[in-house]
Amino acid sequence: MGSRRKYILLFHIIFFWVLLAARIQVVQSSSHHHHHHRHHRHRRNHHRLGPSKLFVFGDSYADTGNNPKFAESWNQPYGISFPGEPSGRWSDGRVLTDFVASSIGIKTPIAYRWTKIAPNKSLTHGINFACGGSGVFDTMFAWLTPNMTTQINFFQQLINSGVYTKTDLNSSVALVSVAGNDYAYSARNDTQQELLAFIAKVVNQTALNIKRIHGMGVKKVAVIAIEPLGCLPRFAVLSSYKKCNITGNAAANLHNHLLKLAVRKLNKETKSPTFIVLDLYRAFMSVFKKRNSGNLKFSFHNPLKPCCVGIGTSNSCGSIDQSGAKKYKVCKNPKAAFFWDEVHPTQAGWQAVSLVLKSSLNQLL
Ligand SMILES: *[C@@H]1O[C@H](CO)[C@@H](O)[C@H](O)[C@H]1NC(C)=O
Ligand SMILES: *[C@@H]1O[C@H](CO)[C@@H](O)[C@H](O)[C@H]1NC(C)=O
Ligand SMILES: *[C@@H]1O[C@H](CO)[C@@H](O)[C@H](O)[C@H]1NC(C)=O
Ligand SMILES: *[C@@H]1O[C@H](CO)[C@@H](O)[C@H](O)[C@H]1NC(C)=O
Ligand SMILES: *[C@@H]1O[C@H](CO)[C@@H](O)[C@H](O)[C@H]1NC(C)=O
Ligand SMILES: *[C@@H]1O[C@H](CO)[C@@H](O)[C@H](O)[C@H]1NC(C)=O
Repeated sequence: MGSRRKYILLFHIIFFWVLLAARIQVVQSSSHHHHHHRHHRHRRNHHRLGPSKLFVFGDSYADTGNNPKFAESWNQPYGISFPGEPSGRWSDGRVLTDFVASSIGIKTPIAYRWTKIAPNKSLTHGINFACGGSGVFDTMFAWLTPNMTTQINFFQQLINSGVYTKTDLNSSVALVSVAGNDYAYSARNDTQQELLAFIAKVVNQTALNIKRIHGMGVKKVAVIAIEPLGCLPRFAVLSSYKKCNITGNAAANLHNHLLKLAVRKLNKETKSPTFIVLDLYRAFMSVFKKRNSGNLKFSFHNPLKPCCVGIGTSNSCGSIDQSGAKKYKVCKNPKAAFFWDEVHPTQAGWQAVSLVLKSSLNQLL
């Protein structure tokens, strides 16, 4: 029980090691100021020929229920805002996958774990293979969360067995979430040089993965640029949730810089904007900055402070003791919080992020 319990407690994305090891210089992201396009809600209706299926790969930012039932995402109070009970999502409600699906006008695809028992009809909107705790390489949770290569293999098996035709895939898009689990432990003792090399390796593997997904017939692939790691409550707690940790953000910036270069190269190869970056770094920061702008949609009073926290150092959101008593506290209004737990946004947080990302998401249409 003891060691299993520890694993459960550790089940979040863990970035400690990279921060302890990182002494890297801030690499400025090469992205330019973004022009906030008005989003055209009516546009969806004109796109009857838009994508009909969404295939999702990656980690807890995108998972809608693939973790085993003993993961915290299946405990109260996860899911209190939507669907009203735990659904395996790492949030109080909807996560990135739900907002991406709705932005392209389809229902959230079914979680892979249900596909074996579900009727074929339930596969119409695609499949979500993403699994909390996974990375492009094996993480410390590899014994229960398949890495991304394995997730793509599951997809390949389904294609081979004829569940999806070439035409199906031709009207499909993919979402790929690599939010940082690879940095959780692999870089723990690394020198600066080793860490830089590892970040490059993670980005290279990510690029290989998205290229492979496209090669399987999926028309467009959106990949996330990593969120500002140092702003996650897990690290912001050091400043009582007032400041982001610059070391963590530097690592995220380097990852994103390399990712954008890799994506640009892939798009040159396909001669069309096949690969799309969903820049979570920019989106999170933009939402944080707007907190006092009077824009109700982004009105997160203290954005780095999570809604749900464990009581005491060994507990986290969703923890209970042997007698079943709650060892966590939940804020009164999850809608007013950007972060739900130590690393994951609330539904309101994801909604704000997806509004900022609207013009990028429109490229999937
Ligand atoms: C950032 O986090 C690391 C690791 O926890 C810590 O050693 C460092 O002091 C933090 N930096 C700042 C500016 O808080
Ligand atoms: C992914 O997991 C499989 C199965 O455990 C393993 O064989 C493979 O080497 C892993 N791939 C990567 C890129 O880590
Ligand atoms: C589901 O699809 C597979 C592959 O096309 C097919 O073999 C199987 O018969 C289908 N099952 C049902 C219940 O239609
Ligand atoms: C995929 O769709 C495009 C139109 O969007 C069409 O030109 C192309 O022939 C289709 N390819 C396949 C393999 O169906
Ligand atoms: C990390 O460093 C510590 C202290 O230098 C050492 O004891 C430990 O074995 C190292 N761990 C790895 C995985 O290299
Ligand atoms: C990543 O890929 C590029 C070219 O595809 C190569 O030049 C580079 O050495 C690779 N880096 C790592 C760390 O594998």
